[in-house]
Amino acid sequence: KQFKVVITEKEPPYNKIKEIAEVYQNPNGGSLARDILLEQSKDADAILCLLRDKIDKELLDNAPKLKVVSTLSVGYEHIDLDECRKRGIRVGNTPDVLTATTAELGATLTLTAARRIVEAADTARNGGWNIWTPYWLCGRGINGATVGIYGLGRIGEGVAKRLKGFEPKRIIYTNRKPKENSEYEFVQLDELLKQSDFLIVTVNAATIEQQFFNLEKFKKMKPTAVFVNISRGCVVNQDDLYTALKEGIIGAAGLDVTVPEPLPTDNPLFSLKNCVILPHIGSATMETRDAMVNLSEDNLINGLTGKPIIGPLE
Ligand code: GLV
Ligand code: GLV
Repeated sequence: KQFKVVITEKEPPYNKIKEIAEVYQNPNGGSLARDILLEQSKDADAILCLLRDKIDKELLDNAPKLKVVSTLSVGYEHIDLDECRKRGIRVGNTPDVLTATTAELGATLTLTAARRIVEAADTARNGGWNIWTPYWLCGRGINGATVGIYGLGRIGEGVAKRLKGFEPKRIIYTNRKPKENSEYEFVQLDELLKQSDFLIVTVNAATIEQQFFNLEKFKKMKPTAVFVNISRGCVVNQDDLYTALKEGIIGAAGLDVTVPEPLPTDNPLFSLKNCVILPHIGSATMETRDAMVNLSEDNLINGLTGKPIIGPLE
């Protein structure tokens, strides 16, 4: 076979790749040890990787034959794009196929945090369902409220479109510049923080500073506001978020992304009833993961054979 390919996860089998290449596939599942990844990449033509695999300068220096890096994710912050560009290495990712599913999760997490779904279900399961008072387990509704989106890209548009069905009063957003032809209302950041009853972060994390959402920002928000992050954990100062939730500076939060991932169970955020934490399941439906697998496989094969691929450098 003409090519050598490294696949950093045990599943799925990626049989189309195996038809054209000699494949080293992680035999154990879980993270492929860095030293094995480096060793196996030495003579590799392509790597199929996940968010957790660092494709950095050290690895690229060590893999002179490398032509393609295909990641099973829309995000590519684990790949040094500049170094790939310099070497003419093609990079594939999986946008679009996960937009609807990730937007569904964003809308779901917003409602889950707002309506205290996890707390309510835990209360029922754990014997707490023995009283009823007028304000028991009351949360906040989207109907008549202001939904704010920070970073109106494809996924942000998808969340807005879905939440629109719950009949908010306004949907506002902040981007670096207004989007042409958007049906939603562009506002400056301060306005977004002040007005939003629900603030959903869907920004491409590569475009904003680390820990952008800090105490200063939370203090500008409503004490009832629900803060949702489906972007990347690094855009939030988690210590500040803890303080804001604990002290009632904001009302609740829903996080599908954290630092680190996995988030250790002794993280103080887990102790808060008004914080819902999911283990990064934005794109996790069978259909969408199938589509991502197929796209990552096509990107790798097409990249090796000089055909068009989908990726940030193309
Ligand atoms: C998930 O976060 C992805 O980048 O696909
Ligand atoms: C980001 O990758 C987006 O699709 O919004």
